[in-house]
Formats: sequence, C-alpha cells, structure tokens
Amino acid sequence: MQNLNDNFIFGCWRLNEWNYSTHELRRLVDQLLDIGINEFDHADIYGNYSCEAIFGKLLAEDPSLRKKIKLTSKCGIKLVSDKFPEHKTHIYDTSKAHIIAATDRSIQNLQAGYLDLLLIHRPDPLMNADEVAEAFMLLKASGKVLNFGVSNFTPMQFELLQSRLDFPLITNQIEASVVCHEHFVNQNLDFCQKIKMRPQVWSPLAGGRLSDQTNSTSLRVWRTLENIASKYESTPEIIAIAWLLTHPAKLRILLGSGKIERITQLLNAQKVHLNRDEWFALWSAYTGVEIP
Ligand SMILES: NC(=O)c1ccc[n+]([C@@H]2O[C@H](COP(=O)([O-])OP(=O)(O)OC[C@H]3O[C@@H](n4cnc5c(N)ncnc54)[C@H](OP(=O)(O)O)[C@@H]3O)[C@@H](O)[C@H]2O)c1
Repeated sequence: MQNLNDNFIFGCWRLNEWNYSTHELRRLVDQLLDIGINEFDHADIYGNYSCEAIFGKLLAEDPSLRKKIKLTSKCGIKLVSDKFPEHKTHIYDTSKAHIIAATDRSIQNLQAGYLDLLLIHRPDPLMNADEVAEAFMLLKASGKVLNFGVSNFTPMQFELLQSRLDFPLITNQIEASVVCHEHFVNQNLDFCQKIKMRPQVWSPLAGGRLSDQTNSTSLRVWRTLENIASKYESTPEIIAIAWLLTHPAKLRILLGSGKIERITQLLNAQKVHLNRDEWFALWSAYTGVEIP
C-alpha cells in the first residue's frame, strides 16, 4: 500500500448498481488500498439496505482485510422497503433503540465486528440529544463503534449533540461542490474551522451531473471548469475537486465513482493549486453574480 491518503474516502452508495462480483469488488478494494484510500463510507439504507451486505462478503471471504480498512456507516433513516414490512412511512428515527438496532445490523451485514465511525445520517426534527448520546455511549463502551459523527447537521444541531457527550464528534458529512454552496454560506465550514474538525464532503462532482448542460447555470460552471482545466492540462472534474481541496477547512472528499481509473485520476486534484482568481471565477459562475 502507498502512503494513506486521508483527503479521500470511497463512497459505497452506488455499490449495488455496479453489479460487481465479489472477486471484482475485491480487486477494486485492493486497487483503492494501492492508491492509499482505505476508508469506505456506507449507510444502512444504501441500495435499499443491500450495499453493506454486498461489501460484507469481502470480509467473510477474507477476515484479514478488516484491519486494512476503515468502515463508516450511518443510521437514522427508515425507508419504506420490502426488507422491512413494518416500515409504513419514510421517517427519521434517532431513538436509542433504533440507533442500536441499526448499528448492530450494519456490523452484521458488513461482517465487520465493529465500525470505525457511525454517523447520524440526517438531522431528525424529533432528535432527543440525551437519547442519541446514550446510544453512542453504549456503542462506544461495548467496542461496537470507535468514533461518532453526524451528517447534514447545522452547527447548532452539532453543538446540541456534542454538549451531551464526553468525547468529541469527529466529523459532519455534508454536501458540497462547485454547484452546491450551501455549507459555504450557512456557517458550517466556518464552524468546522473553528473547532478544527475536518468535514467530509459528499457528491463532490454533483453525483456525476457536473457536465449536465441543460440549464444556463450548469453550462456556465462547466465552461469555467473547462477553461481552468485547459490551463492546468487537466480535466473539469479534477478542477472541481481541487476547488474543494482549496478550502481551509481541509475537506475530506467522498468519491462515488465505481471506476478505479476515474478515482486514480481525481487524486491528481491534490497537485492543482487554484489561485483566488480561479476559485472565485468558479464561485461566481455558479451564483451568476459578482461577489459584493
Ligand atoms: N451523508 C449523506 O447524506 C450522503 C448523501 C449522498 C452520498 N453520500 C456519500 O457520498 C459518496 C459520494 O457521493 P456521489 O456518489 O454523489 O459522488 P460524486 O463523486 O459526486 O458522483 C459519483 C458519480 O459521478 C459519476 N461520474 C461521472 N463522471 C465522472 C468522473 N469523471 N469521475 C468520477 N465520477 C464520475 C460516477 O459514475 P461512474 O461510477 O460511472 O464513474 C458516479 O455515478 C456516496 O457514495 C456516499 O457514500 C452521503
């Protein structure tokens, strides 16, 4: 394995769509380890509750893989699914009972023994911080989960949960890209800098829709990416990742491609250092207005 590359995490959301055999998936995991990516991001609900079990076959076949990788999972969403006939509606559930049951299921499906990181998937309007904290503390004490965090939380929601815990939440997983500025302007990234916590960023390439040229905004952003890419003899996707890596909050990027060639290519974003002119050209290409 090369040196570990902690700027990148491999996203397993689309695992069930790739239809990889266990052998092909193992080859991909080995190739990721070779390029220094050893963290894998899951959620109980991915692929209609199927992705964790697909990944788990790797660990069942070769338990020695477990110590080479880090596994994240998320809980707190209940989908209506044939797998859970008792789920009558699509809801959030951050009750202690659900967090513990969902985490046990994730560990079992992943055949992992424990999780390196557990996140509350989305803010639940009915979240009782004391109850979530109790679940986290039980999971930590039992050794089932080593670290905890949240996803899509505001700074206030983060602080609420943190106030009930005697260990630090280690990340907030949020959406960000050249076409998703929400967390640049809602103080989340400022908050991450303040507490010196690296956020994880999902859909850094807008889920593959960056080159979507069906509206004037995406067309403008894509053209700007292309212009900057030509200067660096690079690609628009690499520039889009470099734009995120420029941010001082030290974003950790979740890559969602199932193709090792694309992932390997995106790592070149670390060699591109955008200047402020280029960074703000992309900012304004999305907002459509000059900064004040
Ligand atoms: N916490 C949350 O609420 C949340 C929500 C969504 C996702 N996530 C996590 O974030 C991860 C990443 O999200 P994402 O999948 O939307 O990420 P993404 O990297 O923005 O999008 C990946 C998609 O882009 C496509 N793509 C098209 N051109 C590409 C290129 N040149 N290079 C790379 N990919 C290209 C990929 O297709 P190919 O596979 O064909 O390359 C894939 O379908 C997920 O896997 C999941 O773990 C978390």
